[in-house]
Amino acid sequence: MKQVKIFDTTLRDGEQGPGCQLTLNDKLEIAEKLDAMGVDVIEAGFPISSPGDFKAVTAVCKLVKRATVCALARANRKDIEEASLALSTAKVARIQLGIGTSDIHIKHKFNTTREVILAKAYEMVAYASDKCDEVQFFAEDAGRADNDFLVQMTNTVVEAGAKVVNLPDTNGFCTPFEYFEKIAYVNQNRREKENAILSVHCHNDLGMATANSIAGLMAGALQVEGTINGVGERAGNAALEEIILTLIVKENLGIATGIDPKYIVELSSMVERAMSNPVQANKAIVGKNAFAHSSGIHQDGVLKDRRNYEIIDPQIIGGKLPELFLSARSGRAALKDRLKNMKIDFPAEHFESIYSRFLVLADHKRFIEDSDLRRLV
Ligand code: KIV
Ligand code: ZN
Repeated sequence: MKQVKIFDTTLRDGEQGPGCQLTLNDKLEIAEKLDAMGVDVIEAGFPISSPGDFKAVTAVCKLVKRATVCALARANRKDIEEASLALSTAKVARIQLGIGTSDIHIKHKFNTTREVILAKAYEMVAYASDKCDEVQFFAEDAGRADNDFLVQMTNTVVEAGAKVVNLPDTNGFCTPFEYFEKIAYVNQNRREKENAILSVHCHNDLGMATANSIAGLMAGALQVEGTINGVGERAGNAALEEIILTLIVKENLGIATGIDPKYIVELSSMVERAMSNPVQANKAIVGKNAFAHSSGIHQDGVLKDRRNYEIIDPQIIGGKLPELFLSARSGRAALKDRLKNMKIDFPAEHFESIYSRFLVLADHKRFIEDSDLRRLV
């Protein structure tokens, strides 16, 4: 199995989601749980952005026991100095700094040339290298950048001292095939492979963040970035719980992490509550319907053997085995099972009549409660 690192950015990129601001206490509670779950790197904030974020990064450094703590900076000295100061008590301190690398960013954001961007990246990575334990460089908008330029950029920043090169799909623009090819191309054509690893960081604008992240790992990246519940800018970041579970369920990928998944449900609820950002009911892994079977065909199959319709045991992520959801699509097996669990006794020959009445009720009522069934029987 190839071992990859998990980089969590719930506290930085995740908090950039509109209305998702966290208090210092929330950040500490989340960081502590992420550390217990076994994430390798916690990106705790962007220290120059506000005094509150600076304080949060410092507090996270003091709290975490094993994860590397990372702080974000743009490619300028002031940002790097603030990040370094905020990280001063971290056990292992990482600064992530970067600059736009697509021609759109180079022309329309910086009004400059690729050569100037390369020189700036080299200078700033070299400057940051003495100010923390490790430097991670992000090639912003790598998703839309020219692949040969990304190879050049990777070689440049690794020569300057970067230990991790992050190639983000900042705008969620790539399809999994395109992102796979990009990461594979940079990985195959870069120099000094033993000195630095590649990282993938995908946004969800086209709903492909998880698929792109997995494609990036398959193409050779050794670090993957994301947030709990997929929170983040616009449509969000890749959801870490989806990436982690994909790597567990799809053993054939041969990619392992050091994560203990039993914390996932708890962390998801913690982030949902702290950000006042409800998780959609049909969200993979952590949505309230993620393990709920409703149709008769599925319910009957699950009652015979859960493996018929479940690829994940919810208990491994700290969840409970769900009750079968009763609706007008439910069959006799599910209704019988529920009545048995409720310990309601009735003469067996009455079941057909109970079932027909149940269907009439369910055609008109979205949620069938236990009290409805008791009354009906
Ligand atoms: O999406 C992005 O490009 C980022 C960088 C700061 C890593 O969040
Ligand atoms: Zn991002």
